[in-house]
Amino acid sequence: MFNPMMLVTALILFIFAPSPALRPTAQDAAQTPTTAPTHKAVKPTAESQAKAKKLYEVDCAMCHGDNGNGKTDLASGMGLKLGDWSNPSTLAGVTDETLFATIRNGKDKMPSEAEGRAKDDDVWNIIIYIRKMSQPTTAAPGK
Ligand code: HEC
Repeated sequence: MFNPMMLVTALILFIFAPSPALRPTAQDAAQTPTTAPTHKAVKPTAESQAKAKKLYEVDCAMCHGDNGNGKTDLASGMGLKLGDWSNPSTLAGVTDETLFATIRNGKDKMPSEAEGRAKDDDVWNIIIYIRKMSQPTTAAPGK
């Protein structure tokens, strides 16, 4: 009586439930929320990571440090307590989406990284770049 295909069909119908015709179309599948961009599609390349590094060094390193440890003159001068990203546990429990929102919107004394400065893909690449700071296997970005 139980047919596994029915479950699969039900799942497909569930996933595409917003379609009034209950028939998945390519258009439905292509719908992506505009407010919650996803990094899944972003594949870092040597070029995109080089750009991320450049953006980071110009826009972020003065506070967070070249190696991400947050121990900079500006941070201490402003009385900021910044996380040490060279320690893998610092960002371990923080999702990429949260990091994206923080970078795009800013937080407290941290300025926002505007869209004209860094496109969504650039921000995702910066996040990938930041996460690499705690990986001892990759060549250290330098002190
Ligand atoms: C003026 C100093 C300043 C600059 C410049 C700055 N930040 Fe921050 N950043 C902060 C502060 C302060 C916080 C902590 C905010 C809070 O949680 O209250 C923070 C938090 C973060 C966080 C959240 C994770 C954590 O460790 O708390 C990320 C990710 C981050 N910054 C990335 C960036 C990136 C990427 C740039 C450059 C595009 C940047 N920041 C530029 C000051 C700065």
